[in-house]
Amino acid sequence: MDTVIVPGRFVGRLVEDLSKRAGVEILDVSRKIFPDGEHYLRISNPDEVKGKVAVVVNTMYPRQNDALLETLMLADASRRAGANAVIGLITYLAYARQDKLFLPGEPVTGRLIVDSLGRIFDRVFVIDIHSPGLIEDNPLYSNLLFFDKLVEEIISKERVSDPLIVSPDLGALHRARWAAEKLGLDYDYLVKHRDRITGEIKIEPKTLEVDERDIVIVDDIASTGGTLALAAVKLLEAGARNIFVAVSHALLVHDTYNRIASSGIRRLYTLPTIGVRHEEELIRYVNIAGELAEIIKRAVY
Ligand code: R5P
Repeated sequence: MDTVIVPGRFVGRLVEDLSKRAGVEILDVSRKIFPDGEHYLRISNPDEVKGKVAVVVNTMYPRQNDALLETLMLADASRRAGANAVIGLITYLAYARQDKLFLPGEPVTGRLIVDSLGRIFDRVFVIDIHSPGLIEDNPLYSNLLFFDKLVEEIISKERVSDPLIVSPDLGALHRARWAAEKLGLDYDYLVKHRDRITGEIKIEPKTLEVDERDIVIVDDIASTGGTLALAAVKLLEAGARNIFVAVSHALLVHDTYNRIASSGIRRLYTLPTIGVRHEEELIRYVNIAGELAEIIKRAVY
């Protein structure tokens, strides 16, 4: 069945790479903002969607709220233009850290978003959702992890020896285990505590066999870099030789780059899930367009 890509605004070059690898056309979407601030969009040639599989490719950073609405609008427009099936490829799903009630009176925003997308798409692929529990009972969703590729890149490009994969907290342990088992490596984890009111994080003392080993810290998101910087400092204090990072979504807000650079982290490998936003020396992007193209082809045929 024929497939077309219906692109969101912030996915950048990834969508072009994906289109080339999958041999799938990217449709033009025209947009405007009304004087009162409301957004409008239109698939410029709706006939190109009719009878085809529409793959809406979008990310939810920056401008998470706009991106969420845009994703829903693109899916709705595709459906109304006569798509046979509407598939979402959401390279970064925002708000997934609010995956439960931490304090009374909160919403569970991650659940709201997962349910909203699930109502409008026939199938949704997300890359490394913060909390896989949000989608584990939902057959529409697939969570894509690329830590094998990220860690392999680190090992080959950085000449790492005797690597140990470490997750900075229990919540990311499944990522460390997944990568370690795929690549036949050792893994371990740290114990992190975050104050729900102030946001301050602490890493509790824990015995780790890191002496003279090269460490690869794996995590889903680097936002303020506080988690990675603290983990790196603790691991270096415990005797680790070099610290590398494999993180799916490098938001790196404000002056995070400097914080990471001064923490002793040798290099951070990431995916272009929110576009390629950092050109600094410490950051390396790993292209996953080929893998995403295969996943889309398998989902469609
Ligand atoms: C939290 O549990 C996440 O997995 C990340 O560790 C966290 O979001 C990173 O945030 P930051 O970079 O601000 O420490």
